[in-house]
Amino acid sequence: MNPIEIRPGIHWVGVNDRTTDLFEGLWPLPHGVSYNAYLVVGTKAALIDSVKAPFGEELLRKIARILPPDRLDYLVVNHMEPDHSGALPLLRRVAPRAEVLATKAALPMLDRFYGIRDGVRAVADGDKLDLGGKVLSFHPIPFVHWPETMATFEESEGVLFPCDAFGGFRALDGALFADAVDFAHYEDEVLRYFSNIVGMQSAAVLRAIERLRDLRIEVVAPSHGLVWRKEVSRIVELYARWARMEGDPGVTIVYGSMYGETLRLAEAVAHGVREAGVPVRVLDAARVHVSFLLRDAWRWRGLILGSPTYDTGPFPPVEHLVRLLERKRLKNRVVGLFGSQAWAGGALRKLGEKVAELGWDLVGEVGFLGAPTAEDLARGRELGREVAARVAAAGATQSVAGGPQGRKT
Ligand code: FEO
Repeated sequence: MNPIEIRPGIHWVGVNDRTTDLFEGLWPLPHGVSYNAYLVVGTKAALIDSVKAPFGEELLRKIARILPPDRLDYLVVNHMEPDHSGALPLLRRVAPRAEVLATKAALPMLDRFYGIRDGVRAVADGDKLDLGGKVLSFHPIPFVHWPETMATFEESEGVLFPCDAFGGFRALDGALFADAVDFAHYEDEVLRYFSNIVGMQSAAVLRAIERLRDLRIEVVAPSHGLVWRKEVSRIVELYARWARMEGDPGVTIVYGSMYGETLRLAEAVAHGVREAGVPVRVLDAARVHVSFLLRDAWRWRGLILGSPTYDTGPFPPVEHLVRLLERKRLKNRVVGLFGSQAWAGGALRKLGEKVAELGWDLVGEVGFLGAPTAEDLARGRELGREVAARVAAAGATQSVAGGPQGRKT
């Protein structure tokens, strides 16, 4: 995509990355990701964020279509993670007089990552930078996603550059603006990004939203994914809802199965959930990457885990999911458990202990020996119905209390 002027004098100069397999070396990118950088041009020019190092030349070519890159006066570093700061050494070589602006917490990182010590200035909350016709202000939003992160706001046009906040996975498929696409095409990948990357910092996300509330925001221009110039509240409310971890009325069933017996229970549980009129998704923990399991566990209030006993404990891929959910600090889940044992148990007991530790609401569990009997399958179906009923009741309570708000448009 060529540079796009998102408001007079404010240009998207980002790149699509469709070749990196794993974001952060960890999370699959089947649909790619974008690294959005922005050029703000007044009498002086500032670049807001950059791109991952291998895309530095592409960034320079895009900047050059608007102004010679050596004319850059400022490099604003909202966030030091290298998907946004990786091109800094190149930019420094091309635009040696450009001053680097970042939070105080970012300065040691600039040195450690890139040996950048000179020509650097720390900005504090509310500091302003007059570019001549454009004015930037700086607003730290620590831990969205690292401690040094800040948002930059262009005051004359009301454009917020919040870096990781309000972003998502998925490269830009020929359009930059959210109002120019069917957002349903992107939403799964925005939620997967949220749950995988910033979900653990949900409290910081809510603090950031509160902190930025007084700004007259017309456009939200994150550093991954779509730019919002209409319905700005839609992406903000989605992020707030996910950060509150309320969960939509629905159930995710994640199971592991060595020889298909626990899978048979999973099918019965899913049948029960659907009988109660609640959406359900069934996922094989050994075959679906945990990145997607996290996303769906975050999406829906109900979480039913199925596991045979393996090495005296839960099936390892199921255990891995639970461990990650613990690290991501997911709360408010209505849970059911089911599983099998050949001669001695352990999976359900250990999963139950973890559910209690996490403060999740355990509705019930169904264990069986070897292969499930007709009675076991009936108990599984009933477990599905009970979890679904609890989830639907929680959804009704949220509606009465004023939520859910995230999907109103
Ligand atoms: Fe997109 Fe935390 O970097």
